[in-house]
Amino acid sequence: MAHIVASNAVHNIVKERSCHETMQIYKNWAKDLDTHCMELKYNAPKIMADVVEDLHLPKDIQILDVAAGSGLVGIELKKTGYTNIDALDGSQELLNIAKERKIYNKYFKALLGENRRSPIENDTYDVVVVCGGFAPGHLYTDSFPELIRVVKPDGYICWTMRDYSHYSERFRNEKFDEGVNQLCNAGLWKKVREPYTKSGYFDGTDAKIYCMQVI
Ligand SMILES: C[S@@+](CC[C@H](N)C(=O)[O-])C[C@H]1O[C@@H](n2cnc3c(N)ncnc32)[C@H](O)[C@@H]1O
Repeated sequence: MAHIVASNAVHNIVKERSCHETMQIYKNWAKDLDTHCMELKYNAPKIMADVVEDLHLPKDIQILDVAAGSGLVGIELKKTGYTNIDALDGSQELLNIAKERKIYNKYFKALLGENRRSPIENDTYDVVVVCGGFAPGHLYTDSFPELIRVVKPDGYICWTMRDYSHYSERFRNEKFDEGVNQLCNAGLWKKVREPYTKSGYFDGTDAKIYCMQVI
């Protein structure tokens, strides 16, 4: 029963709707979110931290966790030894949970997408990670320019997401990848390696992993 409730909640959050509507759902869901994630064996934050580890960068690099939520990725990054991690998220309720956990140095409450600009200076971070942030009703490829703006030249933008082809036309693999490739063609970033999949995003669901380097 608990598994069904968690699974329905996770299914319901990824629908094409305005980001303000999505934030309202997170507001009501915030206190149960982590429990539901545990019930579904949500392992994406660990996968995300492993992607950063694979870059073999010093542990004191500046990392921004975009769509940080309650801080699960920050927890995994800290376990691996990273010390300078900031968080950005559109949900104050989720950021409050992350704050209580004392994971991040700075907390930015900001919505991204549709040409919105965060209060972060240009070229601030060595690495931006986005775990579970690219989804229907969440972030889309229109937020790439803002992510690139806050990353230092030669810095990295890595994300992990599920395959949402069956949820939304614009999240079909080829369509989403068009947005990635357009910025490759424009010379703004390049692929560190081709996007790949890994098992265990949730129990029984694969993770799609992207790792880009800003030029
Ligand atoms: C599935 S949760 C992932 C949270 C965390 N990264 C994790 O893996 O546990 C998605 C997060 O994206 C945030 N979010 C969704 N749309 C957003 C937007 N347009 N701008 C900023 N944050 C957004 C939500 O508030 C939520 O915290």
